[in-house]
Amino acid sequence: MTSTRTEKLLKLRPASRTPAKEPAPLVAVGVFQDDDTLSPVARSLDDRVDGAFSRVLEAGDFRGKEEEEALFYTTGDGPRRVLFVGMGKAESFDRETVRKLAGRVVRRAEALSVTSVHLVVPALSHEEGGAAAAVQAGAEALHLAAFDFRELKDPDPDDGPKPLVTRGLLSVDPGEGGSPPAEEIVEEAIRIGEAHGAGENLARVLQFRPGNVATPTHLAGIARELAAEVGLDVRILGPAEMEEEGMGALLSVAAGSDEEPRLIILEYRGGGEDEAPLALVGKGLTFDTGGISLKPPSGMESMKFDMSGGAAVLGAMKAIGMIRPPVNVVGVVPSSENMINGRATKPGDVIRTRAGKTVEVINTDAEGRLILADALSYTVDEYGPRAMVDCATLTGACVVALGHHAAAVLGSDDDLVEALREAGDRSGERCWPLPLWKAYRKQLDSPVADLKNVGGRPAGAITAGLFLSEFVGETPWAHLDIAGTAYGEVRAPYQRTGGFGFPTRLLLEWIHSAHG
Ligand code: BES
Ligand code: MN
Ligand code: ZN
Repeated sequence: MTSTRTEKLLKLRPASRTPAKEPAPLVAVGVFQDDDTLSPVARSLDDRVDGAFSRVLEAGDFRGKEEEEALFYTTGDGPRRVLFVGMGKAESFDRETVRKLAGRVVRRAEALSVTSVHLVVPALSHEEGGAAAAVQAGAEALHLAAFDFRELKDPDPDDGPKPLVTRGLLSVDPGEGGSPPAEEIVEEAIRIGEAHGAGENLARVLQFRPGNVATPTHLAGIARELAAEVGLDVRILGPAEMEEEGMGALLSVAAGSDEEPRLIILEYRGGGEDEAPLALVGKGLTFDTGGISLKPPSGMESMKFDMSGGAAVLGAMKAIGMIRPPVNVVGVVPSSENMINGRATKPGDVIRTRAGKTVEVINTDAEGRLILADALSYTVDEYGPRAMVDCATLTGACVVALGHHAAAVLGSDDDLVEALREAGDRSGERCWPLPLWKAYRKQLDSPVADLKNVGGRPAGAITAGLFLSEFVGETPWAHLDIAGTAYGEVRAPYQRTGGFGFPTRLLLEWIHSAHG
């Protein structure tokens, strides 16, 4: 079920002619708000429509605000349609501006049933990464925007969905007095952006797939295919190996389900033979009913997204396999359902984790930290990573704290937390720190075991992070709580309602920053 219409890839390449000359069904250029002088590229496109856009500007009907668009039709060669897109104020121009621009162009193309677009991205400032950063962001967002999850719908209904955008051209608007970047720079930026887009889109397919399709075995199968496709080593543990490893926490969550759990491990080797890897660990809980501590029915269907962290780790590993950076990376995904049967774990049960610590399961709905506990201790012992980042739809408390615009980042290493925060800014998948102070730890004290699996209502995202911290030893580690950011209603034009693939690109930006 992996090669589907959903994943039909957009083909991207650099434009070979200037935007005003390049033949394309639709060319789009961004215009900053209240910008007195249009860029040379925008002027040349205005010339292609005989100054029609200038007349719109003169009439005061287009100021360049973020919602504004103006579409014109040319005569003769070159582009057929020219779309001017407002980008807001030049002061707030960043990579996310480029992504939103790309998203709007794709949505407009869809409305017009145009399947091929030429996007002109404005170069970012030198400090912000210049033309390369802009092209990468544009390429990423074209891929993200062109994605639609259609594999479970009738392929050819009469009034079915419009065709998707399948071809894209990219060029750079260097601005007044700027010179266009070298071809190799554009090509390399497209290559990285495409990998990020493809990786994040893989995460989204897996997120969108319902619980009866995307089971732990399904995710393991995807990991195997991925390994063969992009050149990774893969290892999958099933229940027997988990027993041998003493993974009592992961097994206690899986106990209530007829679906077997899997521990998925993908290894990428691009660094030195003896170089410690960077580790990515993602919660792959393919459906969370809450277990015996059953969740309320309303909205429970969204708990198919409880594998979003694992999906992002698989997506990031795909992109790493495509990019092949000079670093070693291991991706680990503990995957299970959280269901209810006669063998399901009960509140009050005490389980023994792989690390040896015992846990009193107060609430079977706090299952993510249990499957992660065994995955984290396994990753530390097996790989001795130089740094380890986990991501998980872990707590509703995180959604209360930060809503839908930032993940929480909590960690044992301030430099790592700061590196992730910065990677969040660059990727547009932002995260913001919460403390892991010892003062909160007593909320996890249990009268019968080494710790409880819940710390009560106050600071729920923090006590969840503190629980995880018990299983990482001395490894520099940080945790991303993505409960509010991994999926939901569209918040940017390059997204669709459903899975966002968050934090695939954040993880990738972090990996890029952690070598060379
Ligand atoms: N998967 C949920 C967390 C979640 C909540 C994700 C909302 C996305 C949106 C997790 O397994 C869970 O149920 N957490 C509990 C923990 C509580 C019992 C301590 C929660 O947050 O309610
Ligand atoms: Mn739960
Ligand atoms: Zn969960």
